Amino acid sequence: MDVFVGKGPVLSPFPMTAPKSPRESEVVMTQMILPPDANPLNAAFGGKVMEWIDICGGIAAQRHCRQVVVTASMDDLHFHAPIRVGWIVTLRARVLAAFHTSMEVGVIVTAENPLDGSKHIATTALLTFVALAPDGSKVKVPQLLLETDEDRLALQEAHLRRAERLSRKDQGHQWQRALIGPVLVP
Ligand SMILES: CC(C)(COP(=O)(O)OP(=O)(O)OC[C@H]1O[C@@H](n2cnc3c(N)ncnc32)[C@H](O)[C@@H]1OP(=O)(O)O)[C@@H](O)C(=O)NCCC(=O)NCCS
Repeated sequence: MDVFVGKGPVLSPFPMTAPKSPRESEVVMTQMILPPDANPLNAAFGGKVMEWIDICGGIAAQRHCRQVVVTASMDDLHFHAPIRVGWIVTLRARVLAAFHTSMEVGVIVTAENPLDGSKHIATTALLTFVALAPDGSKVKVPQLLLETDEDRLALQEAHLRRAERLSRKDQGHQWQRALIGPVLVP
């Protein structure tokens, strides 16, 4: 955690590269679904929820590495249930794994009826962020400090997903060729 001393420089008791627990960078963000955020069915527009997921996850990743991050991928995005206009939305993001220059972050979106307090999980997603230096080069991120069995299991799962994700990235891109032809697709 950063320490602020008077009006002087900001001091940090830990080097930026010290391992950091997922708890330290966790983000909780609260929003409300307003009419401009809705689809024609009076429920949240998916793209708006995705924007909030990207922001919430990106903040967790930045808190972890204290660098600018860019989104490399968003996958396992599932809209489990609609969120009505006027309902409260809580997004919770956690760094699940820190690899070399990338981090996997999980985001869970909960919908809450403001009138009776009932809640349900509305959306879940996994994102990968890459840390970049001001010159655009990739930066090594701090390791994850695992505090609980849940942290350890989450990390194991993240390693499996990373292997799958990267192998999929290198697989055939026939669908892209079908859409825009072979010229732009490797
Ligand atoms: C994401 C980006 C930085 C990756 O750059 P690159 O030169 O292809 O990177 P590399 O192949 O060296 O991979 C760098 C890291 O990203 C990971 N990565 C790259 N593509 C990925 C993908 N599609 N999904 C998940 N991870 C990915 C790699 O596994 C590697 O992780 P590691 O260092 O922890 O092992 C680059 O593609 C980019 O700038 N994309 C645009 C980002 C952007 O504009 N996002 C939206 C707006 S924020």
